[in-house]
Amino acid sequence: MTGNHRQPEVNIGLVGHVDHGKTTLVQALSGEWTDQHSEEMKRGISIRLGYADATFRRCPGMDAPEGYTVEETCPDGGESEVLRTVSFVDAPGHETLMATMLSGASMMDGAVLLVAANEPVPQAQTAEHLMALDIIGIENIVIAQNKVDLVDADRARENYREIQEFVEGTVAEGAPVVPISAQQEVNMDLLIGAIEEHIPTPERADGDDARMQVARSFDINRPGTTFDGLTGGVLGGSLTQGRLRVGDDLEIRPGRRVEDGGQAEYQPVSTSVRSLQAGGATVDEVTPGGLLGVGTGLDPSLTKGDSLAGQVAGPPGSLPPTWEQFTMDVELLDRLVGSEEDIDPVNTGEPLMLTVGTATTVGAVTSAREGECEVKLKRPVCAEPGAKIAINRRVGTRWRLIGIGTLTE
Ligand code: GTP
Repeated sequence: MTGNHRQPEVNIGLVGHVDHGKTTLVQALSGEWTDQHSEEMKRGISIRLGYADATFRRCPGMDAPEGYTVEETCPDGGESEVLRTVSFVDAPGHETLMATMLSGASMMDGAVLLVAANEPVPQAQTAEHLMALDIIGIENIVIAQNKVDLVDADRARENYREIQEFVEGTVAEGAPVVPISAQQEVNMDLLIGAIEEHIPTPERADGDDARMQVARSFDINRPGTTFDGLTGGVLGGSLTQGRLRVGDDLEIRPGRRVEDGGQAEYQPVSTSVRSLQAGGATVDEVTPGGLLGVGTGLDPSLTKGDSLAGQVAGPPGSLPPTWEQFTMDVELLDRLVGSEEDIDPVNTGEPLMLTVGTATTVGAVTSAREGECEVKLKRPVCAEPGAKIAINRRVGTRWRLIGIGTLTE
């Protein structure tokens, strides 16, 4: 077992337009690790959120940035020193998956924005993903100018200028732009150096109650498993604060849908932590950073098929309120990302798709006023007042990001 199996301490989003090289970059940075899953993970507890862990290292005696590496062995034959393990959260570039990107963004501590040097800047999802980072408030950004092997030096410089111009006035203004070729593994040392410098591990307050954003949920039992052999439901997601230990009591909100006399309501569910997986290993305790799998005592039928995705888990009594309707302050974008189209004010009666934490739900606007609206949700959400909400409206055939909300009451 190598240092690669440490629990990651920071979550880094990989965002950018489809085909700009996210998967290739993750492969280049996660080195030999990707296939070394434990038996248990192979059996299916592994959480597939589109993520990979990478351990950044440095070769002693070599200057920065050349000394940065993901290899265990240095060019001089010596062993590299572990700096930290990071978890890359992949954000699908396909336009219909913007909601997935937004809910993933709630778990990111920073982001690498990939921009391909051989295409004009910005491509549609480059712009939309950057807007999403802006909205969620992710300020620690490194820009990777990828595929520089496909362009000549003049075009690379011109593309660099296009990138600078594009990020002006956004949250990514001033972020380092690192030319790389993920495929040829060129300048990986520079990129690691920039990530080390610009995406620090957040300071976490000790003593906070554990708070887990549930991004996925599973039933990992094979069909036909008998009662004796059943394993409880599994939650996948990320801890945003506190620590979780095997044996801890857990409450999950909003919980499960219960119908009573034609009326449906959500009731919190209670269980305990039976097992924990983090950084590719079974552990007794987890802290924030990376994605984790929590084995619970829940009836697996409650967790199957992501049915608890978007919910929040923590010690009983510690969780934020559940909202079936709420009022939010609304700040609309000037225009639809990547187009010249203006954005009309929110109308009473219109449906909006709202992303709150890892939850995505449709809300009908019951009352719209200047800068504020009330929505009634199709599925309730668990969130603190003040939570940021990504607001999407149906435009043509797809949901488009139109603004940001702040939950007030
Ligand atoms: P989605 O996950 O579909 O959003 O795509 P992606 O951003 O993960 O892109 P992916 O890594 O799959 O790369 C897309 C294509 O670009 C593949 O054919 C890669 O081999 C190629 N590619 C990625 N990086 C480089 C690079 O640095 N240079 C060259 N020449 N090709 C690259």
